[in-house]
Amino acid sequence: MSAASLNKLGNIAEIREAARRRLPSPLFDFLDGGAEDEVTLRRNTEAFDRWSLLPRFLSDVSQIDPSTTVLGQRIGWPVMLAPTGMSRFFHKDGERAVARAADAADTVYTLSTMSSVSIEEIGALTQGPKWFQVYCFRDRDLTLEFFARAKAAGFTGLVVTVDVPVSANRERDRRSGMTIPPTFTPRMLAKFATRPGWVLDYFRGEPPVMANVVHKLSDGSNKNVSSLSQYVNRQFDPSITWKDIAWMVEHWDGPLIIKGLLHPADARRAATVGAKAIIVSNHGGRQLDAAPATIEVLPRMVEAAGSGLEVILDGGIRRGTHVLKALALGAKACMIGRPYLYGLAAGGERGVALALLLLRDEIIRDMALSGARNIAEVTKHMVLPVR
Ligand code: FNR
Repeated sequence: MSAASLNKLGNIAEIREAARRRLPSPLFDFLDGGAEDEVTLRRNTEAFDRWSLLPRFLSDVSQIDPSTTVLGQRIGWPVMLAPTGMSRFFHKDGERAVARAADAADTVYTLSTMSSVSIEEIGALTQGPKWFQVYCFRDRDLTLEFFARAKAAGFTGLVVTVDVPVSANRERDRRSGMTIPPTFTPRMLAKFATRPGWVLDYFRGEPPVMANVVHKLSDGSNKNVSSLSQYVNRQFDPSITWKDIAWMVEHWDGPLIIKGLLHPADARRAATVGAKAIIVSNHGGRQLDAAPATIEVLPRMVEAAGSGLEVILDGGIRRGTHVLKALALGAKACMIGRPYLYGLAAGGERGVALALLLLRDEIIRDMALSGARNIAEVTKHMVLPVR
């Protein structure tokens, strides 16, 4: 997409439409979709409407400071980038584009284990703050190897995603014929042919690869994404428990952040095993359909976490007002997934930068409109439940 057309887009919904126009439909559905009936996916965003923001005026909002800290790390504004796998499918620059845009936007980028660019390359690419996301794989040596590589590459936080004990039921992907990697059957080719811009970009880049695990298949002929994704699927371990999290805390040299909790009892437990933060998340509605919207459970999670754990809200954020509501209800910061991926699909690094800029501008404007000059002034008195 040209810079001029990109710059006409004014919010995340419009960037999503641009992504829809550029991606072949099976890829757009993979990015955009959720599990089963997508109830949780829809609720994640809709549930923000159950809260109002109650503005105050006449407090000199000529200077707004949206910066904050998460686990002692200063960030320019209270939104960080959640981990998303295989960004290479959406744009040839994949995670490189996302990491650069996050750095330029002065916030944390979380690299997924399933990334198409390696830990080492992303580590060396930017100076910006970075976290690394892992699952607790069956192969514990591989998990330890990730810890060592992430540490050496300058990643400061370890995000452990716990809401994928088994693969989810993504019916949109089944209907669209989406597989990892995409297979070019006649039916798929017809869909891909309608998106020549994406096809050109896809074949101009390197072949997609799961860069962090590629070495685990020593037979060079097997190093395609298909055999790697089968390998990774076999690594998901449904038997993991809190004991494994305690094991990770013991072996990771730095703060450990648990991603995917929704139950207050789990928030209390997280503090006792030595986690430093939790990400209240339902994987963007991509795992258990019927799980609650994250903003719905946030107040209870914040209460249960107490003072020992920072709470981050993830899922459904499309507007600056959503971020302010989450912070007012006790989140330290928020994370976004699809909003930056829509940007990546629409326009590579420039598209990600635009998505981040628009969201940041909305937050600053909404802070001024509601009378909060800095993040400390975004308090629970700002939100009212809608009756
Ligand atoms: C994800 N998510 C995800 N989470 C994770 O822990 N590891 C991963 O590899 C991925 N991969 C992934 C791919 C794609 C295409 C999407 C859309 C999401 C979930 C992600 O981190 C985050 O929880 C959600 O995207 C948040 O919801 P929103 O912001 O997309 O509504």
